[in-house]
Amino acid sequence: MKTNIVLIGFMGAGKTEVGRLLAEKRGYNFVDLDYIAEIRESMTINEIFKQKGETYFRDIENKILKDFKKNKDNILSSLKNFIPITLASSKSGNLIINGEDKRWVISTGGGMPVYKNNMEMLKILGYVLYLKAGAKTIYRRIRSEKNRPVLGESGFSEKDIKNILEERENVYKKADMIIYTDGLSQQGVAEEIDIFVSNL
Ligand code: S3P
Repeated sequence: MKTNIVLIGFMGAGKTEVGRLLAEKRGYNFVDLDYIAEIRESMTINEIFKQKGETYFRDIENKILKDFKKNKDNILSSLKNFIPITLASSKSGNLIINGEDKRWVISTGGGMPVYKNNMEMLKILGYVLYLKAGAKTIYRRIRSEKNRPVLGESGFSEKDIKNILEERENVYKKADMIIYTDGLSQQGVAEEIDIFVSNL
């Protein structure tokens, strides 16, 4: 099956790093949609939340996806609506262009699939893989981070993560495939997906 790969899952599930590794392995292009939102708004995600609010951020996510969907067969042209890119300049960690005709690994923000009709659009864009990690694993990975607007500024507990995860799980599990990542390294997850994709 010739398709793009879309990675969804909670914050800290490893979507960006796994996406990057997978793209590297397969020679695909890679884009992190949080990064596109930041470029589009010329602000960090944190600043967008603080200055414009979450509803505004969710609108941006939805607009980016709509544009991607419209240009499903030429995502690069869609990206050019948001960023002035050249093939050569695009080797940063959040955007890797290996060629105009390459397939894409698309990494999403943790909340993206659960708002509006985003999940539907993600499925049109590619094969959707849910990188599933338990609350314990996620908490261990992100507990020291302060730049997690959805989890509040005054710190968060494993229970907070568990609660949001439970709310979102119903949507996440509509993915085409679930990859269980607890106990695996990001390299290990990328390898597993690589094998899986080779057989698609
Ligand atoms: C969010 C996750 C973040 C980012 C924003 C909101 C969420 O992305 O989009 O802070 O609602 O879970 P990552 O999952 O890439 O950290």
